[in-house]
Amino acid sequence: MSKNVLVLPGDGIGPEIVTEARKVLDLINDRFALDLEINEALVGGAAIDATGVPLPDATLEAARAADAILLGAVGGPQWDTNPDFQIRPEKGLLGIRSHLQLFGNLRPAILYPQLAHASTLKPEVVSGLDILIVRELTGGIYFGQPRGIREKEGGIREGFNTYVYDENEIRRIGRVAFEAARARDKRLCSVDKANVLEVTVLWREIMEELGKEYPDVELSHMYVDNAAMQLVRAPKQFDVVVTGNMFGDILSDAAAMLTGSIGMLPSASLDENGKGMYEPCHGSAPDIAGQGKANPLATILSVAMMLRYSLKAGEAADLIEAAVSTVLDQGLRTGDIMSEGMRQVSTAEMGDAVVAALNA
Ligand code: IPM
Ligand code: MG
Repeated sequence: MSKNVLVLPGDGIGPEIVTEARKVLDLINDRFALDLEINEALVGGAAIDATGVPLPDATLEAARAADAILLGAVGGPQWDTNPDFQIRPEKGLLGIRSHLQLFGNLRPAILYPQLAHASTLKPEVVSGLDILIVRELTGGIYFGQPRGIREKEGGIREGFNTYVYDENEIRRIGRVAFEAARARDKRLCSVDKANVLEVTVLWREIMEELGKEYPDVELSHMYVDNAAMQLVRAPKQFDVVVTGNMFGDILSDAAAMLTGSIGMLPSASLDENGKGMYEPCHGSAPDIAGQGKANPLATILSVAMMLRYSLKAGEAADLIEAAVSTVLDQGLRTGDIMSEGMRQVSTAEMGDAVVAALNA
């Protein structure tokens, strides 16, 4: 039976990087006779401009019907001034995550050896880096109620959000992380702020409880401030990191930079059944949009994750990852990963080079 992939280019550099990822996906679709039906829809600012809302019903329906979703990026300054928070591009992305319950966000930070010198950290600190951040994606302070901006006595305005996790939410992301650790180096570090926040006292308790079911995985705990420091001090101490939505958002950007550029990092956001949305960890980079400067590799690597996790085509995923390595060996670099002696290429040239490597 044919499977259905929904492509959501989004805003900023989204359309450019998705164009390159599509070249790769189309080629793999043919080569492996995957019989994928690939459709596109609007999300984010592009959807606001066309329909007035960041997540049109048609897009949500298509997302529900799809076996997997590939997303570029959302957001841009032209939509940031809307006082109605519901009409922000980010709400489109958050809406899909939440409606589809894509709670398990996998953000691998792998340093390609060819890029050891592109990192701002010393090569010996980052070479060989291979960590996986497992971020809870549909709960925590991102979605907690009540939230808003209100006026209190004396006409003083206050902003408020709610940081809440129930034990089931903690347990299900914990399982994703323990399973992932089991398939890797069997070390899991749970990141919390249990010295201050009750939510994360419960988080730690549940992780401990789960740990008893996974005696083969070595579980440790770290406060988030220390984790941020350790990530830049000695990142190779980590194998798998599991944390809540907001801490994961922040730590995954930090981890991304260890690898040279956030332009290299793919992600998967999975539901209970392995259905997923795949997107680069970086944002829409409006400052370079439309200039052919963006690095398409994070999106191309997201296609590889999609093939592996949702489309059960692991062999195709391996080929794409090897092709990315090949173009790096060839010395091709977009601006974000450029270093001396390498050849700087555009977004499209990079995409074409990956396609050529796949065809070689
Ligand atoms: C990410 C992004 C999103 C997030 C934004 C665009 C809503 O930063 O995927 O990390 O905060 O989750
Ligand atoms: Mg982020």
